[in-house]
Amino acid sequence: MKIGLFDSGVGGIKVLESLRQHFSCCDYVYLFDKNGLPYGNKSVLEIRNRAINACDFLIREKHVDAIVIACNTASCVALSECRKRYKIPIYGLIPPLKKLSLKYNKVLVLTTELTHNILLKTIKGLHNSKNLVLTPQKNLAIYIEKYATNKFMLKKYVEENLAKYKGIVDCVFLGCTHYYFIKNELKEILGCDIVDGRNALINKMQREIFNFIKNSHTDFYYL
Ligand code: DGL
Repeated sequence: MKIGLFDSGVGGIKVLESLRQHFSCCDYVYLFDKNGLPYGNKSVLEIRNRAINACDFLIREKHVDAIVIACNTASCVALSECRKRYKIPIYGLIPPLKKLSLKYNKVLVLTTELTHNILLKTIKGLHNSKNLVLTPQKNLAIYIEKYATNKFMLKKYVEENLAKYKGIVDCVFLGCTHYYFIKNELKEILGCDIVDGRNALINKMQREIFNFIKNSHTDFYYL
């Protein structure tokens, strides 16, 4: 089985790493949509079109059997549209806000601006929405794209922008795959739970890929 992934840059690489650990029998194609970086500062329409172009490329040129939108921003605005459009399974990363708001007292939800705007609408109907602190990080994805391997600069960002939440929140949710690169720094400085969407994604794929294999068809021949 060949799985295609895409993101605006390095964020989705962390998703790819997890998938490779859990589904080592699969082959992978990773698409960096570099011209689209940053997704988070663009319009819904633009990101939807970019997601459709990325899926077209992965399906028509690379013949993938399933797609993972390895990006929260593109998942929030384009996952349902892509699922309607294509026949193959398409997975994405959508912040599980309801679950988080029930489990924790105060969750810092870090996202891009575009994801933030979408989530603001979602939390309106949530009973425990007061437990969520939605905080868009305007330039963090670009910053991480530049300093992904520079521990000093990653720590500096957390110290200057997010250390103020120490003792105030009991969980940080990483609502952008680029932010997975500051997971260790957040843990070290804030000392609370740091959660992201990869486990839920893998659990869902585990159930469905298992079914895919179970339902796969074998032809037997005798010579
Ligand atoms: N890594 C992406 C996300 O999860 C996109 C970040 C961006 O390009 O702004 O939202």
